Amino acid sequence: MNASSQEFQPNYDESKIPPYVLPDPLLTASGDRVTSPEQWAARRAETIELFENHVFGRMPAERNVDAKVVRRDPTINDGNTIRYELTVTIHPLKASTTTEPKSLEIHVLADVPKQPDSGGDEGQISSGPYPAFLGLNFHGNHTVSPDPSIRIPSSWVPDRGSQTTDGHRATERGRGVAASRWPNRMINGAGYAVITAYCGDIDPDFDDGFQNGLHALMPDYVESLPPDQRPGTIAAWSYGLSCILDAVTATEELNIDASNVALIGHSRLGKTSLWAGATDTRFAAVISNNSGCGGAALSRRAFGETVARINRNFPHWFCEGFHHYDQRESELPVDSHQLLAMAAPRPIAVGSAVDDQWADPRGEFLASLHASPVYEVLGLAGLKDEENQTPSDLPVVDDAFTSGTISYHLRTGKHDLKESDWMRYIQFLDRFLK
Ligand code: GCU
Repeated sequence: MNASSQEFQPNYDESKIPPYVLPDPLLTASGDRVTSPEQWAARRAETIELFENHVFGRMPAERNVDAKVVRRDPTINDGNTIRYELTVTIHPLKASTTTEPKSLEIHVLADVPKQPDSGGDEGQISSGPYPAFLGLNFHGNHTVSPDPSIRIPSSWVPDRGSQTTDGHRATERGRGVAASRWPNRMINGAGYAVITAYCGDIDPDFDDGFQNGLHALMPDYVESLPPDQRPGTIAAWSYGLSCILDAVTATEELNIDASNVALIGHSRLGKTSLWAGATDTRFAAVISNNSGCGGAALSRRAFGETVARINRNFPHWFCEGFHHYDQRESELPVDSHQLLAMAAPRPIAVGSAVDDQWADPRGEFLASLHASPVYEVLGLAGLKDEENQTPSDLPVVDDAFTSGTISYHLRTGKHDLKESDWMRYIQFLDRFLK
């Protein structure tokens, strides 16, 4: 019938990329050209709707959230960080007629810098409120640091083998296993807080027919939508990020500047940070690390992972509407350069890795480049090299283009979020958030 009945062979050959024409981000559905910020506002709304209908599905505009600090530990990182744990509760929007939706609890970890008691050279850390990075993690907050006190998720987790999980339950053995992706001491030292939560607390990462997680809180809402437009898990995770921002905004004690929170996400969670930044403009900046297909990589290139392949392996990530474009990428009414452009006028950073061809680094670079005209209409520089010129090709490996409002870097090595990636993002965002 389609790719699912054949053995899938990813294409890694540039000469075999199908010829394609990208949708013009500045051309409205009625054929008018956007030339001003006012016109862009309308085109932006129209573009969001296209992504809702054809890629991610639609979440409600309302949220009903409260937050409670359950731990405050000022001894972290030799007393230079205050570690908070919060319980963020997402309540149902209204009583359901079909089921009895319960509330959903998300555990949030926030490492917030602390001004050194003695001024001196270390006085470069202000007394806050601090700008922050907010990103979901794959396996639980306890995997982010070996700290024995961090709450272990009670929700379903992907099986990682007996070394860290028992069936689909997280265990003590998972503590710190993802610490290399979360160099929080360094990030706090640079003056930023780090906020994270386990994505599975929001919605489990398996095809559960939307019986659990966020979907179960709003069955009537989900049912009320045309089947094609029902939100997938990435839309649910994105909504969860907005709920976490609500909680951070409401919790002054954290000493975080809620108007300066940058989204960060790796891989499937990078797809998520792009969509969360598109749907919630309170986020001050957006970072996509190795997000690939359905994220920063142009779908029309069909290089590495394709639309059909991602929909087959992860049928729950996107809306049903996206499945119509399996092997028909050229018919998609949008592509990833427009997803990146949804961040405008806010800064956006895209990071790729050379050995991560599955995520199509060149496709991520080209999307960054073709998002630029939107920034230009808003009077800002898009992707620019160090001479302030529009780059014609990828940067050399381990270099970056960071002088515009869009940043792109290409790192040596594999699919991962590394300390060196964080350093790029910090360097770029220092210009905007501090
Ligand atoms: C798989 C998937 C990617 C995804 C990645 C991840 O490789 O095909 O689309 O980005 O998992 O989330 O690590």
